Amino acid sequence: MTQTSRLSAVQASYDTVAVDCARLLGGDLEGRPLDRAVLNAFAEYVRGGGGGAVADLGCGTGRVTAYLDGLGVRAFGVDLSPAMVAVARRSYPGLRFEVGRMAGLDMADGVLGGVLAWYSTVHTPPGELPAVFAEFARVLAPGGHVLVAFEAEDGVRRLEHAYGHPVDLDVYGTPPELIAPLLAGAGLAEVARMVREPGAHEHGLQGFLLARKAPRGPAA
Ligand SMILES: C[S@@+](CC[C@H](N)C(=O)[O-])C[C@H]1O[C@@H](n2cnc3c(N)ncnc32)[C@H](O)[C@@H]1O
Repeated sequence: MTQTSRLSAVQASYDTVAVDCARLLGGDLEGRPLDRAVLNAFAEYVRGGGGGAVADLGCGTGRVTAYLDGLGVRAFGVDLSPAMVAVARRSYPGLRFEVGRMAGLDMADGVLGGVLAWYSTVHTPPGELPAVFAEFARVLAPGGHVLVAFEAEDGVRRLEHAYGHPVDLDVYGTPPELIAPLLAGAGLAEVARMVREPGAHEHGLQGFLLARKAPRGPAA
């Protein structure tokens, strides 16, 4: 499968499930205290670093964008799926959501205080992650933070049904031992990682990795 046909399949799949995904996943963070703790820490780092805007890349229904907004972060969402973006705009009319692709963002260099990829790199084959992480690094300001959430058990899981609809998705599990050096290779140094046991409706260990772009050095 080419990258273009894979992205088309991901987009079509999420377009199909968008409305039911919002209905079924709505308050999912409420039952996940460790996930909220990681997001809270990320928000605190971003606010402490000057409070630059945060792009929630692969924002889906916008539920995590809204959570960050509630923490006083200037968050906006970007997603491949126009139907997901439409649901996010309807659900959170006060927030900004745009259609876009993680590996080719319509943003200038160094404009963000933070990047969030909350289970949105899971459909990207590991071989394509260096280009995605390079794009994250490009749009982050020096000292900016990135938080990635992912399925942490190595292997590919085929998904043909989700939220009551047929879908055409591969889910790539990537251990933190693989994600951390890929982020580092893009200039995003690890700050912390967390691995937790699966909760309801999850498959295997769940990984969370916080990294930071080097701050600007002193002027020579
Ligand atoms: C598992 S959902 C997670 C959604 C959201 N982050 C959440 O936790 O509710 C994955 C999302 O990532 C989006 N996505 C996948 N690949 C993408 C890409 N290359 N660029 C932008 N969005 C992407 C999908 O359209 C989908 O909405």
